[in-house]
Amino acid sequence: MVYLDLLLVGFGRVGRRFTELLEEQSVRLRGEYDLSWRVVGIATRRHGTAYDARGLDLVKARRLAGAGASLASLTGAESGRTIAAEASGLALIRHATAESAARRMPQLVVVETTTLDVERGQPATDHVMAALRGGAHVVTANKGPVAFAYREIASAAGVARRRFLFEGTVMDGAPLFSLVRETLPGVRVLGFRGILNATTNYVLTAMEEGRSFERALSDMQEAGIAEADASLDIDGWDAAAKTAAIANVLMRGSVTPRGIERTGIRDISSKRVLDAVSRGRRVRLVASAEWVDDRLAGRVAPVELDEADPLARLAGLQNEVVLKTDLLGPIGILQLDGGLAQTAYALLADLVTIAKGLSRGETSAAPPLR
Ligand SMILES: NC(=O)c1ccc[n+]([C@@H]2O[C@H](COP(=O)([O-])OP(=O)(O)OC[C@H]3O[C@@H](n4cnc5c(N)ncnc54)[C@H](OP(=O)(O)O)[C@@H]3O)[C@@H](O)[C@H]2O)c1
Repeated sequence: MVYLDLLLVGFGRVGRRFTELLEEQSVRLRGEYDLSWRVVGIATRRHGTAYDARGLDLVKARRLAGAGASLASLTGAESGRTIAAEASGLALIRHATAESAARRMPQLVVVETTTLDVERGQPATDHVMAALRGGAHVVTANKGPVAFAYREIASAAGVARRRFLFEGTVMDGAPLFSLVRETLPGVRVLGFRGILNATTNYVLTAMEEGRSFERALSDMQEAGIAEADASLDIDGWDAAAKTAAIANVLMRGSVTPRGIERTGIRDISSKRVLDAVSRGRRVRLVASAEWVDDRLAGRVAPVELDEADPLARLAGLQNEVVLKTDLLGPIGILQLDGGLAQTAYALLADLVTIAKGLSRGETSAAPPLR
């Protein structure tokens, strides 16, 4: 049996849904993957921090966080609380990694789901680096670390002989990074084109049906799919961060979201969307990257697509990436239904990857992707 202790840094919509999925799938994880887990710590920004090496009550944690209350009452005096309820995520990671090493506890996995920061990818990158240096594995749905510091993190993971996995950062649960890592040996990704942001795709297709930009956006906010700050979706930052992530991980690039040429959909009018439809075309927010000479050119922009273009067919929450490869030609990965459940699944899948590696006796981290 592989035992893993989980430390949740960020406990918002994704973090909470992930814990529900873990509980729902506990029997399957034990039966099929010999994986047993417990959550030993949770850090938030404004709702406190909780740590108990014997495991936390997740039903209570979700109830407290859902009600906007502090997590402090999760750890009573009898738990031997050793970290202040107001400690930061970074302090909790340092505390938990030190405890884990000193008390020979099960291997620790830090699950990073804090808010996306498109300026610097922080503090998520610091969280990831501290976790790896402290001997923990990391799984994350936060695009910041892969979009800003993939090389540095991959190298730290190699030195620490720990895994850094991030399937949930792009296309929710659809296996993009693991597909290339596990099933495309020897293949080089030369470029890609895709629709990567569900919120803007939903808004644009709702406008084709005569609904307003504002109403469609508020649907996405209510569903918990838009970023906490929806301007990150509307102004193309989320898609730019995903473009940087794909370029860095799959195309050996070294770009940040700021290096991606970016236009969002804020200024797209219903008239423009409906005009395009009347001419048999579709406006979509298209993300792409390719090598031009020695420069990686990444771009996010609203583009009018011919109806025959596979990306033009995507409606609502659907996402697709078409990778241009040297040995296979173009291959597409299509996600018909994305959202919180699928992002939570990506974290779960990454956790299973770690457990499978441990049960095979792997002690080293996999090398960075090409
Ligand atoms: N929602 C989706 O469908 C989706 C899909 C794919 C990827 N993602 C990514 O997943 C991440 C989480 O998304 P979400 O929708 O769960 O966001 P969210 O609901 O806003 O939750 C973010 C969580 O992070 C905590 N946090 C923020 N800064 C922190 C810090 N410095 N230290 C510790 N905790 C901190 C917040 O605490 P407080 O509540 O106390 O502020 C909250 O618990 C984001 O990076 C997002 O881009 C989301």
